Amino acid sequence: MPDYKSQQLLPEGRAVEGIVRWQSPSNIAIVKYWGKHGKQLPRNPSLSFTLQSAVTDTILRYQPKEKKKGISIQFSFEGSPKPAFAQKIEQFFEQNLWAFPFLEQIDIQIDSSNTFPHSAGIASSASSMSALALCLCSLEQELFGTLSDEGAFFQKASYFARLGSGSACRSVYPYAALWGQSPHFPNASDEFAIPVGQALHPVFQGFHDDILIVSKKEKPVSSRVGHQLMEGNPYAASRYQQAGDHTLALFKALENGDVETFGRIAESEALTLHALMMASNPPFVLMQPNSLTLINRIHQFRSDTGLPLYFTLDAGPNLHLLYPGECREEIQSFIRTELTTYCEDGFWIQDQVGPGPKQIRD
Ligand code: PMV
Repeated sequence: MPDYKSQQLLPEGRAVEGIVRWQSPSNIAIVKYWGKHGKQLPRNPSLSFTLQSAVTDTILRYQPKEKKKGISIQFSFEGSPKPAFAQKIEQFFEQNLWAFPFLEQIDIQIDSSNTFPHSAGIASSASSMSALALCLCSLEQELFGTLSDEGAFFQKASYFARLGSGSACRSVYPYAALWGQSPHFPNASDEFAIPVGQALHPVFQGFHDDILIVSKKEKPVSSRVGHQLMEGNPYAASRYQQAGDHTLALFKALENGDVETFGRIAESEALTLHALMMASNPPFVLMQPNSLTLINRIHQFRSDTGLPLYFTLDAGPNLHLLYPGECREEIQSFIRTELTTYCEDGFWIQDQVGPGPKQIRD
């Protein structure tokens, strides 16, 4: 484990003031993380694409502190106070004071916004927690100059993004990231993700991920509960084995530009994830009738046209459509004319694999 315990404190009388800002994207897991233990440690390795358009923009302003003790944060989301988020962030800072003790020495104001509509059925924890962790690391670098090594910077950001929300640790790297120990990847870790985007064949660097919103409602069972239920799932051991095998096979397909193997693994992972939910005790179902209709329509389209259109699902009813950029016109026209009727209010979002988080310096 990296030693992040820090004694860094601002010397008495050093008044600091400034801004750090990061725009960080969401990610879509192709091999899924489902099942955790300890402090957000995964039961199996997972491999994701980093997205481009679904981004959280977080601005952290800091200034000398007036109050003596404790953490002082003000938080706004898209211009309005959000007490529930503010509480979560305060808790997150408190839990991580061992690594960022200087957080007690400054007044902090955080303004956050998403490029994708709020309550559109898209989880924002990966983009928001990665943006926040990146801001914390930039803050440490600005105040103490201790994270000038780029590799160390992003590893630390990934580590703390993970503590905020497991899958967020994969969002800090361009194009693709791998999280979780695996005998096939000696550098992989349960504590932070590692970048694997550099291994991607060009066809995958331009891959699309269009999200069909089957429902905008909050899901009835949270990911937190879903992960917990894996502890008693009778298929857990074989699932973790399968995820390890899929990670290696997927990595090879990504390197070789093997879109067909990629698609087979992506769909198997999506359906396995939902099968695990149905096999939990108590069981639960997050897919909806339209999710299944869309899956059948996609299979039919693939066999009719021979075009490489595949899907994946997160822990919810919405479909992510995965396909190479060169098929964009045909596939988006299919989505518009045949699939949007199964989406809530006809709503879908276009996204694609992207270059990862961006620091904004004014
Ligand atoms: O990061 P969490 O705790 O929201 O869990 C994410 C779980 C999945 O989205 C279903 C899979 C994944 O690897 O992102």
